[in-house]
Amino acid sequence: MRHIRQQSTRRSALLGRGAVVATVPVAVAALLATAGPAAAGTTGASGAGDPYFKLAGNGGYHVSHYGLTLAYDTASRHLDGTAVLTARATESLTRFDLDFEGLKVTGLTVDQVKADFSRSGQELVVTPRHALRKGQEFRVTVTYSGTPGPVTDPDGSLDGWIPTDDGAFVAGEPQGAMTWFPANNHPRDKASYDFTITVPENRTAVANGVYLGKRTAHGKTTYRWRQSEPMAAYLATATVGKFKVEQYTTRDGIKVYNAVDPREATDTARVLKKLPSVLEWESKVFGPYPFRAAGAIVDHAPDVGYALETQTRPVYDSAPSTSTLVHESAHQWFGDSVSLTSWKDIWLNEGFATYAEWLYSEQHGGDSAQETFDDLYSRGASDDLWDFPPADPGSGANIFDTPVYARGAMALHELRTAVGDPTFYRILRAWVTEHRAGHGTTAQFESLAERESGKNLDKLFQTWLYSEGKPNKP
Ligand code: ARG
Ligand code: ZN
Repeated sequence: MRHIRQQSTRRSALLGRGAVVATVPVAVAALLATAGPAAAGTTGASGAGDPYFKLAGNGGYHVSHYGLTLAYDTASRHLDGTAVLTARATESLTRFDLDFEGLKVTGLTVDQVKADFSRSGQELVVTPRHALRKGQEFRVTVTYSGTPGPVTDPDGSLDGWIPTDDGAFVAGEPQGAMTWFPANNHPRDKASYDFTITVPENRTAVANGVYLGKRTAHGKTTYRWRQSEPMAAYLATATVGKFKVEQYTTRDGIKVYNAVDPREATDTARVLKKLPSVLEWESKVFGPYPFRAAGAIVDHAPDVGYALETQTRPVYDSAPSTSTLVHESAHQWFGDSVSLTSWKDIWLNEGFATYAEWLYSEQHGGDSAQETFDDLYSRGASDDLWDFPPADPGSGANIFDTPVYARGAMALHELRTAVGDPTFYRILRAWVTEHRAGHGTTAQFESLAERESGKNLDKLFQTWLYSEGKPNKP
C-alpha cells in the first residue's frame, strides 16, 4: 500500500509540470515515473508474509536464478561460498533483505558495485549504492565463508547444513537453506539454480537437477549440477559424502543419478531399484513427471531422523522403505512442482504424499486406502491424530505432526469417497497441471475440487480440514 501511494504521488508531481509532460511520449513518461532519485523507494519487507515463519522470505523483489559456487573441506568442515542471485525489483527499493544465518559475509556487490550490508538475526540487510527501480533486474553477489551448521526448527528438529562423519546432509525444510546460501527463503519465490561444488576427491557432492560433470585437480573434485525448473530454496541440496554412484535414463527419458552411502547400500538396493516403476506409476496417476532429472541421495546420517523431497533427488538419512520412496517421489508433484504459498497449507504437501503411499499400497497388493483409513479412524478421540485440523496446524512447531500427514490423507480419502474414483483422479491431475511449476493454496484446491466434481464440498472440507477433534463417523 505504502508503495502504491508513493508511486501516485510521484506521478502527480510529474503531471503538475503540465505542458512538459504532455509532450513526453508515453513510454518515456512511464520511465520517468519509475526512475526516481536515488533516495526514492521503499525498504523491502523483512518477511514474505508467512504467518508461521515471519522472517522467512523477503519483500520487494523476486529471484529468478541462483548461481552457487561452494567449496567444502570435509576434514575442517570449512565452507567457502559465492552466491550470485539474479533478481527483479517488484517495487522501487533503497534497501532489501536476504535470509542468511551464521556464515560470515566477506563481500557483497549489487550489479558489481560494492553495497553496504548489515546482519540482524537471519536478515542480511543490503543497501545498494544506487536505489533499484521497480521492475529493474539486478544481480547480487555474496561471498562468504565459515563453518556451517544446522538451525533448530520450532519442532526441535535440525535442518540446513548438517555435518556427518564423511561430509554433510543438506536439507532445508522449512528454514535451513539460509544456513548455506543467502536466499529469498520462502517457497513463494521459486528460481532456477546452478551449482558448482568442490570437495576432496574421495567425496561426492550431489545437488538437484541434471548432473553436468566433474573435474579433478590437486586432490579436489568439482561437481556441476543444473536445476532448470523453478525450485523453492528449501528444496535445494548440496549433500556431500562418500557415495556409490549410479546413473541411467528411464524409458520416459528422465535422467537418474543415485548416490548411496556404502553403509546403506545393501538395504537400499532392493528398494531403489523400484524408482523407475514408482515414477512411472505416479506419472500414470498424477500426470507426467514434472522434471527432467530424478534420483536419490541415501546418506548415513543418524542425527537427522527424516528424509526430504529435495527437488528431483530426495535425500534420505538412511536406506528408505518402499513407502518412503513413494512418499518422497510423490512430493515431486505435490510440494515441489506445485509449491506452498504459506507453510500453514503444509497438508497440501504431506497429506497428498501420504495419500500417494496409501494408493500405492492399494494398487500393489497391500492394504486398500479404505483399510488404512478405517484403521486410523479407529483411534480414540484423545489420540494425537486428532490434535488439530490439518489445514490449521496453529504454528510452525506442528507442521510435521501426525494430523498434517495422516488426517490430511484421510481428508483426501473422504473426498475420493464423495466424488468417486474417476473424478478424484481428474482432480489430482488438474491440480498438478494447473499449478505446475507454480503455487497452490488450500482454498484453490477446494474450488478446483468443486469445479471438477460439480458438488458443493463445503461440509466435507469443513469437517476434515478445519474442525477440531475427531470427526463424526463418515
Ligand atoms: N517433508 C519431509 C517429509 O515428508 C519432512 C521434513 C521434516 N523436516 C523437519 N525439519 N522436521 O518427508
Ligand atoms: Zn512428506
